[in-house]
Amino acid sequence: MKLSGNLSPRRRAWHAKTDDENLRRLLDEDSRYFLHQSASTPCLSAVRKAEGIWIEDMTGRRFMDFHGNNVHHIGYGHPRMIEAIKRQLDDLPYSPRRFTDEPAVAAARKLAEIAPGDLCKVLFAPSGSDAIDMALKLARAATGRFKTVSFWDSFHGSGFGAMSIGGELELRSGPAAGPLLPGTEHVAPFTCYRCPYGYADIDGKPDLDTCKMTCATFIDYVLGKEGDVAAVIAEPVRAVPYIPPPGFWKTVREACDRHGALLIFDEIPNGLGKTGRMFACEHEGVVPDILVLGKALGGAVLPVAAMITRQELDILGDRALGHYTHEKNPITCRAALTTIEIIEDEGLVENARVVGAHALDRLQDMATRHPLIGDVRGLGLLLGVELVLDREAKTPATDIAEAIMYAALEKGLNLKVAMGNILNLAPPLIVSRDQMDQALDIVDECLSEAERAPP
Ligand SMILES: Cc1ncc(COP(=O)(O)O)c(C=O)c1O
Repeated sequence: MKLSGNLSPRRRAWHAKTDDENLRRLLDEDSRYFLHQSASTPCLSAVRKAEGIWIEDMTGRRFMDFHGNNVHHIGYGHPRMIEAIKRQLDDLPYSPRRFTDEPAVAAARKLAEIAPGDLCKVLFAPSGSDAIDMALKLARAATGRFKTVSFWDSFHGSGFGAMSIGGELELRSGPAAGPLLPGTEHVAPFTCYRCPYGYADIDGKPDLDTCKMTCATFIDYVLGKEGDVAAVIAEPVRAVPYIPPPGFWKTVREACDRHGALLIFDEIPNGLGKTGRMFACEHEGVVPDILVLGKALGGAVLPVAAMITRQELDILGDRALGHYTHEKNPITCRAALTTIEIIEDEGLVENARVVGAHALDRLQDMATRHPLIGDVRGLGLLLGVELVLDREAKTPATDIAEAIMYAALEKGLNLKVAMGNILNLAPPLIVSRDQMDQALDIVDECLSEAERAPP
């Protein structure tokens, strides 16, 4: 198995260059006191400040954060958010179960107002993974079935429910995995540039006349063959990123309806405006039975996730779907409400659409100049640049992608590498066109350097 990023030789080399004593001490202590795990400890660096689109490490180096775990839609430390939380702390810091409170009701009402279609009933949870679990339980209760269909290569969280429907080898196998939930069927996802069914793409776009969208029709086939699937669960736009071919979700929605399965959309990283619409599913106008949100809902401050569903699925009043201790926590609910208000009041969805479209244009232009770029994909501020060693064979340029991630950090840009060879650019929704250009200049430069002198 590939060495996890936090253990790679490049990570060691990056650390070896750290000559700041305070940073070194904190990283050492982090490593001593925290359990080590992939994508975490040992850590890259230590943050001392987070503001707007920026994070600053202990040595004063500043990075434009185009990763941010997708929590930072409204930017870090948004003054209105900080003020709202401080005020809420003074007003009411906690509300035990069996009681409700103003911010909890207001946040649920707000979600019901903005949610697509007829979704109007809400439950909050402390993490995306927990909210996914609630959705799985509700699907079981609603259908009397337990099976699910989800995508290989997907990630839905690290609890056992989310792990079971997730499709990443690293999480599904190994000493910590063991038996997962039964009945969690997996299918190949839409991945047009590398179609798992072997169809050729045309410049990264599907050749629908030839493939007839097998990735969607196969879901129909699996639902029919299994006969008793409770739910299809997926991200409507894959965070990698991969954008579905037009009509994909309509086909799947119809298949779900035909076979009595619910459709659950995980919009934990990419809901709330990232894709240039408030919800990613709105691009195709497909309404799921259950929508799951998280991450940015907490305003880049607090952990809070939510499940939203239809009135008719309010069917489990005598059982626990997600009896979480912080179900109606006034502070996290205030953060959720304020986040949505900021996104609305500052026109951040529109900004994501406009700046994202500009970025996609620039990336497409870069693709004409950089042989390393195999494909460019994007929707709003969810952008990806797939690096290949040669365009014909599409050999993933994994080593170069990792080298570029570190080169970009050196130049002040924090980006993520997905699937080993995809530069994933996911800035906050507040990013300006100038800041986007600055970041893309860095990506451009890093690509030129890697092409001149491959690592
Ligand atoms: C698509 C998706 N679903 C679910 C989760 C899990 O969210 P959490 O880390 O809050 O449990 C994540 C987190 O990265 C995610 O990207």
